[in-house]
Amino acid sequence: MKIQQLFVTLLCMGSIVGSYAVEVASPNGNIRVDFNIVDGRPTYEMSYKGKTVIRPSHLGLELIGSTDLMDKFEERNVTYSDFDETWQPVWGENKDIRNHYNEMLVELAQPAHGRFMNIRFRVYDDGIGFRYEFPVQQYLDYFPVKEEHSQFAMAGDHTAWWIAGDYDTQEYDYTESRLSEIRGLMETAISSNASQTLFSPTGVQTSLQMKTDDGLYINIHEAALVNYSCMHLNLDDKNMVFESWLTPDAQGVKAYVQTPDHTPWRTVMVSDDARDMLASDLILNLNEPCAYDDTSWIKPVKYVGVWWEMIGGGKQWSYTNDLPSVKLDRLDYTKTKCHGQHPANTDNVRRYIDFAAEHGFDQVLVEGWNIGWEDWFGKSKDYVFDFVTPYPDFDIEYLNEYAHSKGVRLMMHHETSASVRNYERHMEAAYNLMDKYGYNAVKSGYVGNMIPRGEHHYGQWLNNHYLYAVTEAAKHKIMVNAHEAVRPTGLCRTYPNLIGNESARGTEYESFAGNKPFHTTVLPFTRLQGGPMDYTPGIFEMDMKKINPNSSGHVNSTLARQLALYVTMYSPLQMAADYPEHYERFMDAFQFIKDVAVDWDESRYLEAEPGRYIVAARKAKGSDDWFVGCTANEDGHSSVLSLDFLDKDRKYEAVIYADAKDAHYRDNPQAYTITKKPVSSKSKLKLSAAPGGGYAISIKPVGK
Ligand code: NOJ
Ligand code: CA
Repeated sequence: MKIQQLFVTLLCMGSIVGSYAVEVASPNGNIRVDFNIVDGRPTYEMSYKGKTVIRPSHLGLELIGSTDLMDKFEERNVTYSDFDETWQPVWGENKDIRNHYNEMLVELAQPAHGRFMNIRFRVYDDGIGFRYEFPVQQYLDYFPVKEEHSQFAMAGDHTAWWIAGDYDTQEYDYTESRLSEIRGLMETAISSNASQTLFSPTGVQTSLQMKTDDGLYINIHEAALVNYSCMHLNLDDKNMVFESWLTPDAQGVKAYVQTPDHTPWRTVMVSDDARDMLASDLILNLNEPCAYDDTSWIKPVKYVGVWWEMIGGGKQWSYTNDLPSVKLDRLDYTKTKCHGQHPANTDNVRRYIDFAAEHGFDQVLVEGWNIGWEDWFGKSKDYVFDFVTPYPDFDIEYLNEYAHSKGVRLMMHHETSASVRNYERHMEAAYNLMDKYGYNAVKSGYVGNMIPRGEHHYGQWLNNHYLYAVTEAAKHKIMVNAHEAVRPTGLCRTYPNLIGNESARGTEYESFAGNKPFHTTVLPFTRLQGGPMDYTPGIFEMDMKKINPNSSGHVNSTLARQLALYVTMYSPLQMAADYPEHYERFMDAFQFIKDVAVDWDESRYLEAEPGRYIVAARKAKGSDDWFVGCTANEDGHSSVLSLDFLDKDRKYEAVIYADAKDAHYRDNPQAYTITKKPVSSKSKLKLSAAPGGGYAISIKPVGK
């Protein structure tokens, strides 16, 4: 480990100060972090291969009702250590993950106030993490935070792929622009999903991906968000300095801290190769090891569902139109007629179970199975769902037995309508019901304004709730996939029954306004940094009018790209979201969805450029089969792929699902070709993706 401690005179933050700087470098020496006290303020900077990544930036917290933890600091002690360990995730992109870093713990004191605060830096070859730590002490015990002021001073007007800062939704299309253009583009950027809690014209969400003019890829996010509120970044666009901006609670308080405690890690990833951004395990590594002794019940899931019929097809979650909008416990569903547009009925669910069993899917999600959907959204009602009472046309006992008899499980759905206290009150009964019928996975959702009223989706209280739902589920051996919950920060390492999250704009928006064609070339650089996304790919019918005459939606992707998403959008939870009858029309292409794995021994990113294209290759868990996926933006993409990742001594057959020459995401999305050819580790494949297109390849060994 190369560690230096230097007396230096620095030209820092515009003033000359004599100070004692400390430094830590990454194991390969490419990344350096310097820490210093400048005019009493903790200050750090970061470089990569000698280039500035973060200019001198202050660190500190402003408190409510007591002296801030911002300045008048002195350094007490600095401790260095290193760490190198390889661990195995319960599921993941790779079977082995190396956690290799150098650490610098800076212990600080505010002598005038008798207080102590530490800042811990971990420096990896692909980025850094730092966090504030608050040891037990006499004059600092329990404190509300007015704001965290962690700065990230950029070295230029970088290109960024960003979504608007917002306390309640992440379901925005991305904008690609210079940092200096964010302010001017904000209004257009939010038009895809405006929320009332936009807090600043230059506020953005993390994970934020950037690229510098000299080819550095920089990503800012956070890791291990526990008992704290979620961080946004607010840009001072005169000086190109980002500063943390936490999500407030209903009182405007940004966080409540009680010693001993620490903040989540603030992360900055950097490389001169975009593929390293996608391959990085930094966020997972900064999380704690698995909290469970027995993880044998946690299994990746490939599923179909009674879902697109409502989202895309315009049918209903609700059972009836007859009932007035009254309290749930006053409704009597047995005395009313179904409106006939309720897909969560026994016959239809049985059809999905048969389809799942025939084609090897693990589970069938059923939304709209439970009473309450007649008036579920937009009224800020406390009590909407009880999570245990099925509609009269959904035979819960029979359908579970039928599914199990065919080797399939039903997947539970808990829409909370953001009435979180109500959900917590019913949670144990809801999980018990799942145990009774043999469900082992739940998709939950948090649509609408939060209850308790005034709380936000990404505040500390809610973040604690999402984790509570996951750890309570673990007691029942239940896996959780939460939609509309806070963006993931690698907690799936510690709690691997958190098998998915939405927390970004998913396929559902293709049926409303459509996603920008480059969307899936950005998400792996941003949203997926923190954990897998339940993106729900696999739409084969792009013209939404075909299933819903009232829809103006169009899925902005070719069919071949829909296949590729199973590889490029890493997740242990993958849905085939379209109608069974659409798959039956394209059985040869559907074969890829049937074949593709959901858990991996090894992953490689062959080509990548944010907003342009991503090509990933993955080796299936416990198998010699490889799967390759490419997703391209509206310009399309040409690749020459070397298959040198294949075993040198084996022969393989590749099945290539590609866009046809005249394919186009808008006009001709269903034009694809399927080609079979023998390949080996020496093969080079020339492939191209149409505008908004992609390709998918399955490669299986033959003979031997
Ligand atoms: C929004 C979710 O993202 C979607 O998947 C779900 O169907 C609806 N909420 C209803 O819960
Ligand atoms: Ca959603």
